[in-house]
Amino acid sequence: MKYDVAVLGATGMVGQRYVKILSKHPWFNLVALSASPQKAGARYGDVVSWVIGGTVPEEVAEIRLSKPEPSEFKDIDIVFSALPTDISREIEPKFVSAGLTVFSDSSPMRLDPRVPLVIPEINADHLSITAFQRSVLGGVLVKTPNCTSNVLSLAIKPLIDLLGIPEHIDAVSLQAISGAGYSGLPSMAIQDNVIPYIKNEEEKMLEEPRKIYGRVSNMTIEPNESLYIDATTTRVPVLDGHTVVIHAHYSWSVDINEVLKAYENFRSYPQELRLPTAPEKPLILHRAVDRPQPRLDRDLGNGMSVSIGRIRIAAKRGGSVVKLVALGHNTIRGAAGNTVLNAETYISLGLSKR
Ligand SMILES: NC(=O)c1ccc[n+]([C@@H]2O[C@H](COP(=O)([O-])OP(=O)(O)OC[C@H]3O[C@@H](n4cnc5c(N)ncnc54)[C@H](OP(=O)(O)O)[C@@H]3O)[C@@H](O)[C@H]2O)c1
Repeated sequence: MKYDVAVLGATGMVGQRYVKILSKHPWFNLVALSASPQKAGARYGDVVSWVIGGTVPEEVAEIRLSKPEPSEFKDIDIVFSALPTDISREIEPKFVSAGLTVFSDSSPMRLDPRVPLVIPEINADHLSITAFQRSVLGGVLVKTPNCTSNVLSLAIKPLIDLLGIPEHIDAVSLQAISGAGYSGLPSMAIQDNVIPYIKNEEEKMLEEPRKIYGRVSNMTIEPNESLYIDATTTRVPVLDGHTVVIHAHYSWSVDINEVLKAYENFRSYPQELRLPTAPEKPLILHRAVDRPQPRLDRDLGNGMSVSIGRIRIAAKRGGSVVKLVALGHNTIRGAAGNTVLNAETYISLGLSKR
């Protein structure tokens, strides 16, 4: 039997990705949607400005929007939340205390030690604390990392498996316009331009990977303080797809062939279980010197694969620097796709109530 699921913030950039992924999902039945309260009662197809290509799935277009209130979702097995930051801070805890299971993309509570922040290829085990959450909070809350932290964290996983935590990592992001939401950036601000600052983003690229690479202890998540990432985040005139240039510093000499092999062979739990939204390859290694590129590579693995290219090793005094360029789809791997994969992982681990 399928799980009944719903999407909050269903008309937005991330919400539309949910609609697309969930409308044909083998485990999930998309039965309810909401947007801002004034749209409650409207037919989804009449109020959404569909911007992600293709057309609104017919059966979803007919759904009447619910009010974004827990009482409207009481029979739903999993609620996916793509709410704006301030709204989610107020609404998601109400859903959780009403006993609902919420998988969310928004930033509030991502760093709460009792809330798993999950990329299933890295830390599926952190989902184990949802059983404890249910006993103390009534419901469940699982977060997906920020879109750039997500690409960065996945991109360094084979390196960490092979060589351990680097001395430090320098990272520069080139982030797409859709990362700021549907009405986030005026076209006059971003056309023909690069904006060298994104508010609150650089802190997330340090704190979130630390939590993702942390460990569960006494039903809380202890961050991995040995991971140090110094990031500069920028906005560029690309529609979808965040690029991150990564330099990982090690205090010994590193063999390029071993690094390449680690990237070629990387697979993890979702691939072993062949979960419906898991890409066959979570990381795709490009050998051509001019890849990855957002326009060419963001949709690989249905937007769930992160592309890795330009792997080089530079000698530095007393060690080496592994350099690479990573690219991932910000509203799919960096949001809705990762979150649906989190829900599939949660179910596959036997943690769901049903
Ligand atoms: N865009 C990305 O790449 C990305 C990546 C990772 C995480 N995120 C996070 O995901 C969340 C959604 O981002 P987005 O880019 O999809 O934003 P967005 O395009 O601005 O969409 C926001 C959604 O929230 C709804 N909404 C607005 N006010 C509301 C209210 N008072 N009550 C209930 N719903 C309300 C909007 O409905 P209306 O259409 O009625 O206004 C819309 O459906 C944010 O927390 C963001 O930080 C985004």
